Amino acid sequence: MRSKVSIIGAGNVGATCAFRIAEKGYADIVLLDIIEGLPQGKALDMLEATPVTESDVKIIGTNDYQETANSDIVVIASGVPRKPGMSRDDLVLTNMKIVQEVTRKVVQYSPNCIIIMVTNPLDAMTQLALHVSKFPRNKVFGQSGILDSARFRTFVAQELGVSVKDVFACVLGGHGDTMVPIIRLCTVAGVPLTELLPKEKIDGLVKRTVKGGGEIVNLLKTGSACYAPAAATAQMVDAVVLDKKEILPCAVYLDREYGIKGVVVGVPVKLGKNGIEQIIELKLTPEESAALKKSAEAVRELVKLMKL
Ligand code: APR
Repeated sequence: MRSKVSIIGAGNVGATCAFRIAEKGYADIVLLDIIEGLPQGKALDMLEATPVTESDVKIIGTNDYQETANSDIVVIASGVPRKPGMSRDDLVLTNMKIVQEVTRKVVQYSPNCIIIMVTNPLDAMTQLALHVSKFPRNKVFGQSGILDSARFRTFVAQELGVSVKDVFACVLGGHGDTMVPIIRLCTVAGVPLTELLPKEKIDGLVKRTVKGGGEIVNLLKTGSACYAPAAATAQMVDAVVLDKKEILPCAVYLDREYGIKGVVVGVPVKLGKNGIEQIIELKLTPEESAALKKSAEAVRELVKLMKL
């Protein structure tokens, strides 16, 4: 039997993500938005692509949560994207109201689902959904580290003229200016990046990664990145639906792991059919650990603004 994946928010990220998942053929999809006609139109357009992509899935567009009932996975991508000059954190109070309402509805109709958060500010919104849903932490987590790592991998591959597949990167921390790329663990076909590029060059790539979302916002002027965030989210859905036990960086509520307690932050996890099946605790240097803790504190400050 196919899985059921609902995507809340039929905007740029939500719709792109739906299309990627539809092509896999393993799940029926419900696309929901508050705007009438938008999810219906996009879903029908996607459905009409299925004969070409040879994917026998159902894709429904709706404004009614009843259609999402008993979803296995719900991706939350509803909310406002940032504009040039804004940080992700500037969205917190606006998107908080949306994510709060959406999570309540999601839980009402799919009490056993896994929630994957995409709305920014990512870590705070994940913590909000965890709080509202009252689900265990293995079932509510967010997409950030795959995207941040993918950006870094892209820049490294471009710089060295190698396949993106050969580049491994590990970016931890919050999805924002305090993210923590662990350069020591970045490799190209198994060779440490530090042996391949001078420090100044690596620092430049790190800086570009940290500002990667902003670079796109500044180019687009209206709206933010969608293709890479959607691809990263679809990879997480793959790992859960196909029970892959894949190790991926995700935003998850930490309860003393890495010496951090009571806040959502990005760390490597094992993703399978139960959601987060294990939190992987890497051995960090004192500097790396301090940077991760600093990033977690920045998320905690943001979470405080929501007065949960
Ligand atoms: N319920 C359902 N859908 C909603 C709600 C709601 N309460 N509020 C807003 N939406 C919908 C909007 O109608 C819109 O179609 O969410 C969609 C958001 O789409 P876009 O504006 O295209 O934004 P997008 O680029 O997809 O980003 C969505 O993901 O990456 C993050 O920072 C980004 O927080 C933003 C989110």
